[in-house]
Amino acid sequence: MTKLNAFVAALGLIAPTSALLRFGCARLTVQRLDPLVNPGMIPSTHLHQIIGGNSFNATMDPKTHDLASLSTCTSCQFTEDFSNYWTAVLYFRARNGTFKRVPQRAQAGMEGTQGGMVVYYMSDALFDTAQKSTVTAFKPGFRMLVGDVEYHNREQARNFRQLTFTCMQNEGTRAPEYLHFPTEPCPAGIMANHRFPTCWDGVNLDSPNHRDHVAYPESGTFESGGPCPTTHPVRLPQLLLETVWDTKQFNNKADWPEDGSQPFVWSSGDSTGYSTHADYLFGWQSDSLQKHLDGHTYVSAPTLNTQSISQQNKCTVPDVVNEDFDSWLTELPGSPVMF
Ligand SMILES: *[C@@H]1O[C@H](CO)[C@@H](O)[C@H](O)[C@H]1NC(C)=O
Ligand SMILES: *[C@@H]1O[C@H](CO)[C@@H](O)[C@H](O)[C@H]1NC(C)=O
Repeated sequence: MTKLNAFVAALGLIAPTSALLRFGCARLTVQRLDPLVNPGMIPSTHLHQIIGGNSFNATMDPKTHDLASLSTCTSCQFTEDFSNYWTAVLYFRARNGTFKRVPQRAQAGMEGTQGGMVVYYMSDALFDTAQKSTVTAFKPGFRMLVGDVEYHNREQARNFRQLTFTCMQNEGTRAPEYLHFPTEPCPAGIMANHRFPTCWDGVNLDSPNHRDHVAYPESGTFESGGPCPTTHPVRLPQLLLETVWDTKQFNNKADWPEDGSQPFVWSSGDSTGYSTHADYLFGWQSDSLQKHLDGHTYVSAPTLNTQSISQQNKCTVPDVVNEDFDSWLTELPGSPVMF
């Protein structure tokens, strides 16, 4: 069974004849580094989990750092993809106030993958099995950020469409999606969904806040085929990251706060979930992503090379921060302000 078919089977759907680019990536590293928002800072403000090419480091100077030529391996399934993708890390806060990192779990069909995420690139909505629309792949040097680490409430969180959480009852659960952390225990884990904007200004590979060079469709959504605004006319693929936080060992409500609130916090200090964010540095080899998207042959990905999960797991980068983030901690790494 292919990975996509396992996914489709898990959801109880009929296998499509063609579909989208969907692949697993193992953990490259978990470290307090952020070359996009805090370049050169060792350690950065909060802990991240990072996947992709092993040229990842604290600086990644946009003028000189070519991810595809400097990487010698990737933790992703397709060996052409030396991009880096990262999010904050989830912690459980116990009644006694100490914190424990929540492990990440591989999805069905990708068992054995150490940590990591599932990555999608789409031309149309997730379940539009034809995926016929034309999209322009990201260019070398392209970077972006979605979400805002400062966001504390629902009104703010609404500025970003579709940064959500799913309380997984089983492997196939994909709805409902919340803008905040789920309020009840999630037997199969909490899925964090990060969907990036899909319209580009066509000129700038990045912008000072790493967000203004991209935009959402001016009406509707990417899924509904909404048009891009004239300021950002170039239609990009929809990039989606799914991270499954394996909350199983923390699901006993007797261990949850006495007031009944949920016990999970982002490594940035957020117990609401509204500050959810993700970072992307494009690093596909030459035109491999565009070629794939133009081929509209998503399940088989004939133009891309696949490596084994054990090879994916072997691709890591050295730990340059060297701090304990895995025992029961009295403070989150970097001691962020809690909210
Ligand atoms: C990151 O990698 C680049 C390219 O290899 C290198 O020039 C730079 O010194 C590295 N930065 C750090 C902090 O290791
Ligand atoms: C705090 O609670 C956790 C979870 O119950 C436990 O594993 C840990 O040992 C406790 N730490 C202290 C210092 O009591």
